[in-house]
Amino acid sequence: MTNRFDPEGTSVTIDLAALPHDFLWGTATAAYQIEGAVDEDGRTPSIWDTFSHTPGKVANDDNGDVACDHYHRWREDIALMRRLGANAYRLSIAWPRVVPGGDGPVNPKGLAFYDRLIDALLEAGITPSVTLYHWDLPQVLQDRGGWPERATAEHFAAYASVVAERLGDRVTHWATLNEPSCSAWIGHLEGKMAPGLTDLTSAVRASYHLLLGHGLAVRAIRAAAPNARIGIVNNLSTVHPATDRPEDLAAARRHDGHVNRWWLDPVHGRGFPADMREVYGVDLPERSGDAETIAAPLDWLGLNYYFPAYVEDDPTGPAPHARSVRRPDVPRTGMDWEIDANGIESLLLRLTDDYGARKLYVTENGSAFPDVVRPDGTIDDPQRQDYLVQHLAACASAARKGAPLAGYFAWSLLDNFEWAYGYDKRFGLVHVDYTTQTRTIKGTGHRYADIVRAHRAGGRRAA
Ligand code: FCB
Repeated sequence: MTNRFDPEGTSVTIDLAALPHDFLWGTATAAYQIEGAVDEDGRTPSIWDTFSHTPGKVANDDNGDVACDHYHRWREDIALMRRLGANAYRLSIAWPRVVPGGDGPVNPKGLAFYDRLIDALLEAGITPSVTLYHWDLPQVLQDRGGWPERATAEHFAAYASVVAERLGDRVTHWATLNEPSCSAWIGHLEGKMAPGLTDLTSAVRASYHLLLGHGLAVRAIRAAAPNARIGIVNNLSTVHPATDRPEDLAAARRHDGHVNRWWLDPVHGRGFPADMREVYGVDLPERSGDAETIAAPLDWLGLNYYFPAYVEDDPTGPAPHARSVRRPDVPRTGMDWEIDANGIESLLLRLTDDYGARKLYVTENGSAFPDVVRPDGTIDDPQRQDYLVQHLAACASAARKGAPLAGYFAWSLLDNFEWAYGYDKRFGLVHVDYTTQTRTIKGTGHRYADIVRAHRAGGRRAA
């Protein structure tokens, strides 16, 4: 694919007319990244509390104890969403608030928090999109083996059922898991995220039980909330071989299997990819009926997209023996992630053409750059604005070519606890001063509001 999007962002226009009238313009967050209040109202620790409080695991030894204090400031945050013109909001529910023991008794105070939040969103004209698992497994379940154990998948479905029963009269958009590949591969194989393991067998078993938990949860949500529209959120990557050496071509195929096909194929009834089973060489804990459970029909697919991958063969490295290379002289974000808006277009089209998606949401997309607060308190962030406009233009282009794209959720509403990177990396459309908890809409937030307004007014293009 040629690079049609000008990296400077100067000549990019968004084909707004390609997006449906009822397009969801949203922002996204996740519970542990923004809520704080980690020991309030009966919440118990999650694996991220444990991980972030383990010295050396997170930059600056930051943790989510306070984060954006959203647990207390949610009204203000909804007001910010309104100022951005957003008509949707993707949030996640903290399992350890709702079922503090991992399984068993429900914590009414935990549920009540989300109950109020949902009511206030609806009152503000904002459609909630609820993700049930954004990485904060109750630590008590980790102590019993975590995702490598089948019971965790069953407990997840029970928790999903509790939440759907309580909120399902008002919430129609549901996602089971956020980025299960990060939970399995980064959390259990690379050790860079909670629970911090580096064990292939655990990682493969975790991947299996995450998808099983997804399938069981789909069934549980449908039973509890008949109007539910359910999807799964995957972070996918375009994968390119670093060179045209046959070894690198094969490595690219394995990397694609690892980050994309392993997560998409089973959910689409194709089973776990045979080539990757061989690469991992780990027996899956399969039981009869699981494949059908995992392939439970879905209403939509969520795509989180950030960067492309260029990979080379790495025969002595860990599975899948493919290593990402850093290309010189290409534009990058403050995460050191390569910027390539064409990737989001080709992934949306791949989901449409290869997986027959009938409804797609971009459930996350965005960029971190260091922000400078000017003396007058404003934040101008032209690089983040360019990233946003380029990627929206690519989304609209995919829609023009037939991708059934129904919404876009900018990552993120607020600067927040960026996992192992701590608070240094700022993805927000809204800046957060962590000493005062002051929120300030950045230039990108204002730009987003302009684009949303233009689309709503029937504008055909936005620059
Ligand atoms: C995604 C996560 C999200 C955020 C962004 C930058 O992988 O889902 O929570 O950290 O990356």
